[in-house]
Amino acid sequence: MSLDGNRAPTVRLNNGLEMPTIGLGTYRSRGEDCVRAVRWALAEGYRLIDTSLAYWNEEGVAQGIQESGVPRGEIFITSKLENDDHGYDSTLRAMERTLSNLRTDYLDLYLIHWPVSQLRDDTWRAMEEVYREGKARAIGVSNYTVRHLEEMGNYGEVTPAVNQCEFHPFLYQRELLDYCRERGIQFECYSPIAKARRLDDSTLNEIGRAHGRTAAQVMLRWETQLGCVAIPKSVHRDWIAENISIFDFELSTEEMERIGALDEDRHLDWDPRSVE
Ligand SMILES: NC(=O)c1ccc[n+]([C@@H]2O[C@H](COP(=O)([O-])OP(=O)(O)OC[C@H]3O[C@@H](n4cnc5c(N)ncnc54)[C@H](OP(=O)(O)O)[C@@H]3O)[C@@H](O)[C@H]2O)c1
Repeated sequence: MSLDGNRAPTVRLNNGLEMPTIGLGTYRSRGEDCVRAVRWALAEGYRLIDTSLAYWNEEGVAQGIQESGVPRGEIFITSKLENDDHGYDSTLRAMERTLSNLRTDYLDLYLIHWPVSQLRDDTWRAMEEVYREGKARAIGVSNYTVRHLEEMGNYGEVTPAVNQCEFHPFLYQRELLDYCRERGIQFECYSPIAKARRLDDSTLNEIGRAHGRTAAQVMLRWETQLGCVAIPKSVHRDWIAENISIFDFELSTEEMERIGALDEDRHLDWDPRSVE
């Protein structure tokens, strides 16, 4: 990891591209809330914004970026292909829609949002095309299990740069994380603060008190210390600021293990293990 001023450190993806380790999530951020959140995040030092065609807010993300005054070249923009757009031609068309919504001629990272049960191979070939054309500086997947990643060996030429999955102390997907690490696939955590549903957890709060930090910060620090990228979502400026203020303290090995022991192997979102 390399540190860049006051910003989140970056990780280097398997094609050499640098990706910030903390980004702003935008699921359920809509309208002016989304525009403001993006503007605030960029002002607080975020340089990674995560969106999707399925979130209906790509235009709001573009608006927030424009209003922030931060140059496009400094920002790492991720968007995702939604489920109805799988297939070779429809993937290429969806990418054009996303680029137009985001008012940019390239994405930093384009992800397949979900491993739908058919067309995964054709869809990935179109993603590879988008990558070769330079319309996405990196391509990857989301919600792919080990089984889905293994299957890619049968049809893919480009190894995914990233796998974005639900991951937090209550869903510590060690096997998947290890699999991705071993193959140079960067692991990215969504719902990284467990959708704010477990902020009262006594272990997280005890560890947080020892460092003068909140339970949300402890979860984000744990994830980034494991080498993951995390994309907490908020539309509140104080929480947006809080969530990136995690790079001036360190969890001990014992604290990392105590947090890892909170695992309940339970998804808060859909569980992709059931997808054929
Ligand atoms: N690839 C996928 O399938 C997938 C699925 C889900 C999510 N994602 C991505 O991952 C992002 C994050 O996941 P998520 O939105 O599910 O959950 P999350 O980031 O774990 O939690 C978001 C919730 O926590 C609240 N919050 C944020 N920071 C807080 C803090 N410091 N203290 C207290 N509460 C705080 C937010 O409130 P406010 O919003 O009211 O400020 C919001 O209700 C999404 O926005 C999206 O970009 C991807």
